[in-house]
Formats: sequence, C-alpha cells, structure tokens
Amino acid sequence: MELNPDELGAAERYKLLTGVVTPRPIAFVSTRSPDGRDNLAPFSFFNAVCSTPMSLVFSVGTPADGRDKDTLVNARPPAEGGLGCFVVNVAVEAYARQMAACAEELPYGESELALAGFTAAPSRRVAAPRVRQSPVSFECETTHVVALGEGPGSGRLVIGRVVHVWIRDDLVDERLRVDQAKLATIGRIGGERYCRTREVFSLPRGVASLALDPPFPEDVGAALARGA
Ligand SMILES: Cc1cc2nc3c(=O)[nH]c(=O)nc-3n(C[C@H](O)[C@H](O)[C@H](O)COP(=O)(O)O)c2cc1C
Repeated sequence: MELNPDELGAAERYKLLTGVVTPRPIAFVSTRSPDGRDNLAPFSFFNAVCSTPMSLVFSVGTPADGRDKDTLVNARPPAEGGLGCFVVNVAVEAYARQMAACAEELPYGESELALAGFTAAPSRRVAAPRVRQSPVSFECETTHVVALGEGPGSGRLVIGRVVHVWIRDDLVDERLRVDQAKLATIGRIGGERYCRTREVFSLPRGVASLALDPPFPEDVGAALARGA
C-alpha cells in the first residue's frame, strides 16, 4: 500500500503515525499557571533529544476547537503569557491508571493532580511543581516552542532544557546507572493500549550483534532483577 499523507484525513494520519511509532515514552508533565494553579497531563509525543544541554521535547496537539491546551499555555515563555517552565515526571506501572485519568479535559485552572490522587512537591529550580509520587522528575526551562502547522491537529513542540533532576535514591547506583526494572516505566502503543518495559534483551552495537546465538539473548540485569 502506498499512502500520501496529504490525501488522508486527520484521524487517519494520527492512527497511522501512532500505530507505527511504538512504543512511545510518556511525559507526565506538571506545570503551573501564572496565577498559581497546578496542572498535570500525559504526553506521548515525547522524547529525550539532547544530553548537552540536557533537553527534552514533547508535542502538544491543537484540539478541534483550536484552543491551546493548559500545559502549553503554562509552559510558554513569560513573554507569551506562561511561566516558561515545566516538569517532566515519568509514567510508571504503579500509577498507570491515575496517569491516564489525568488526560481528563478539565476547565483551565482546575487541577488534575487532586482528581487522580497525586500531590505537588516544590521544584528546586523552576516554579512548576514536580509530582511527589513520581520516582524521577526533570525540571525544565522552556527554550523553544516550535509551531508545526496551524489550527486543529497542528502541533506545538515544546523544547525544554533540564535544569534540575530529582531521582529516587534506590533507582541509581553511584555511577548513575538506572535500575530500569525497578523504575518500571510504561509506553504507549496506540489508542488506549500500553506496554511494560520489563521484557528486555541485550545487543552489542555493530556487526558483533549478527553473530549472536540465540539471536535475542536475555538481558542479564533484567533476569537478576526478576530473581532468576
Ligand atoms: C498516554 C497519553 C498520551 C497523550 N499524549 C498526548 C500528546 O502527545 N499530545 C497531546 O496534545 N495530547 C496528548 N494526550 C492527551 C492529553 O493528555 C489531554 O488532552 C490532556 O487533557 C491535556 O491536558 P491540559 O489541557 O491540562 O494540558 C495524551 C493522553 C494520554 C492518556
């Protein structure tokens, strides 16, 4: 099948893109409005994009009514009416349902935190709060908001520079290696489907991987974490 995206409907483009680009990590973004009201929402158009400066990006879609989502309003630079910052918390198995609950469209200024049983904790470097229950939080200053298209279905890429990291002590060793089995992040597969990140295998980089037998050797770290 050959497809020209320009000849598809908006919903079809979305379905194709999000059905194929999987699994997508989920940014659980907390922000604060200029008048001090907290907001929390998940975004799976999300990734880590640079380590120096340490940077993250997520994309906010424009809904059918053309308004800006609350997260975008709050994360915009002060010159554009926001506080110029946001916190990326992680989506983990322990609160997967509560994370999905935070996608509820509430009126601007009404907080999803309380709705889903989360509490805000003060950040160190930015005005937006972090989520106390999140095992990791990246405090970010908004460096760019890049427009992709206009009107419903268009996106606003929000790029942030990480200025502070909060991570639970038991998740990293002294060399800052993350215990991913313990972190237990979840990913988005498409629509309302998600995946765990527990099934892991290791591959050496380059041609050495072609000689492996069995082809998908079990990850030693994951096996140990399972107690195998
Ligand atoms: C797992 C998950 C991922 C989502 N990813 C995105 C996304 O990447 N971009 C987006 O605009 N909305 C996304 N949404 C929908 C928003 O979370 C939803 O519109 C939310 O109400 C926005 O909140 P806000 O208006 O408080 O910013 C996602 C929802 C879920 C459940």
